Amino acid sequence: MPLRPTMSRSKKRPVWLGALSTLALAAGLPAAAAAPDATARSPHSGQSIFRFDTFGDEAQWTDKLRLHEVIQAAVSPRVALSVGLKVDAEALPPNFLARHDLDSPATTLELLRRNAVVGLVGKVKDGRLVSVGTTCAICHSTVDNSVAPGVGKRLDGWPNLDLNPGAIIALSPALTDEQKAVYGSWGPGRYDPRFNIDGINGPVVIPPAYGLSGVPFETFTGDGPISYWNNYVAVTQMGGHGSFSDPRLGIDIVQEPDLVTPKLPALLAYQLSLPKPQPPTASVNEAAARRGETLFNGAAGCGGCHIAPTYTDVHTGGNAPLLHDAAETGMDPAYARRTATQKYRTTPLRALWQHPPYFHDGSAATLLDVVNHYDRHFELRLTPADKFDLVEFLKSL
Ligand code: HEC
Ligand code: HEC
Repeated sequence: MPLRPTMSRSKKRPVWLGALSTLALAAGLPAAAAAPDATARSPHSGQSIFRFDTFGDEAQWTDKLRLHEVIQAAVSPRVALSVGLKVDAEALPPNFLARHDLDSPATTLELLRRNAVVGLVGKVKDGRLVSVGTTCAICHSTVDNSVAPGVGKRLDGWPNLDLNPGAIIALSPALTDEQKAVYGSWGPGRYDPRFNIDGINGPVVIPPAYGLSGVPFETFTGDGPISYWNNYVAVTQMGGHGSFSDPRLGIDIVQEPDLVTPKLPALLAYQLSLPKPQPPTASVNEAAARRGETLFNGAAGCGGCHIAPTYTDVHTGGNAPLLHDAAETGMDPAYARRTATQKYRTTPLRALWQHPPYFHDGSAATLLDVVNHYDRHFELRLTPADKFDLVEFLKSL
């Protein structure tokens, strides 16, 4: 099966690979039955799809990229953790890691066999890794580090900003040096979901998949609703066996049987059920945050675009997303130009404390950098005290 399934004639671009996600291991779909939560027991539940469903993308990660060979030969748990992969402690017996060699790829195979590598599904037969595929969780879940750094309980919807998808893809022996150089340039927490389509290199930050209830248009550029984007990613990026068409992008992929489309409603319901996490206790100066809120909705003018409670205005356009030209907020227009809408969506502000860096390209490392950006762009003349208050308010969202 082609890495990059059939593209319509309008886009004839080099066939890089489809891109993305990580390694996976474990035991294929049936392993979902071993998941701890009762709700995850059915492989048809949205949670199970989000965590464990590869949509048949082994065709990409195994057959094309041959990552199973690389993992078997050279990816120890220590290496896996170093590229940001996370281990689900609840899938392991107590003290498992203490009793196993973390420098041995054989331990990685055992983790995969137990379905304990977040977002990677591997099939192990007679001590060999025969296939590997990826799931949504590789980029959009992390763990709470309760056992060790990178090892703990799953946190679905939290972007894995330690994950280095480019470095993982670059491990593939099927790539040219030129391709490896591009993937290797992305860094942790970033991924380019369009590089294999348009050949342009410009990764964006992996965003949260929580706190999306009430936000009708997804992605930094508001290309469509959640299911549109889930379908896009599953088929064009993960390499899942399904269909996706968007004439705006010149993409028309038809693959039967479609292992993606029938699962979109359950996947959508699960994403909408994921609340934004609350800031850690006592991490916010409440009095400053209240002053910051007044400033946000008043003199600083933020509230005109970031409208509570979701803190976006994308829904105010009715059936079409309300979007902004890059120049309006002083953003780099390069990524928007590659998308269906060519503009940026006012990002819904959710648990900002949890996922620096900010803006689609991560150009603001901290919330103070965000405030300084707007202070310059809108010539707000904020005082240091104003900036402090605004940052405290942003931390509280
Ligand atoms: C390799 C990493 C990766 C994988 C795998 C992945 N995504 Fe994403 N996801 C991204 C990136 C990067 C974006 C931002 C793209 C953009 O906005 O243009 C994104 C955007 C999103 C958004 C929009 C968030 C928002 O605020 O608008 C949702 C929802 C989402 N992904 C869910 C999923 C689901 C469900 C799957 C599995 C079908 C999935 N993703 C697979 C990296 C990934
Ligand atoms: C004209 C509309 C508009 C105004 C006014 C505005 N924003 Fe934004 N905001 C946006 C857009 C569009 C983005 C997405 C930009 C990007 O991703 O490159 C954004 C992104 C952000 C983000 C990044 C969120 C994330 O998860 O990465 C923060 C934080 C933010 N704005 C805070 C503010 C603050 C504080 C103010 C007031 C000082 C403000 N905004 C004023 C439209 C606006």
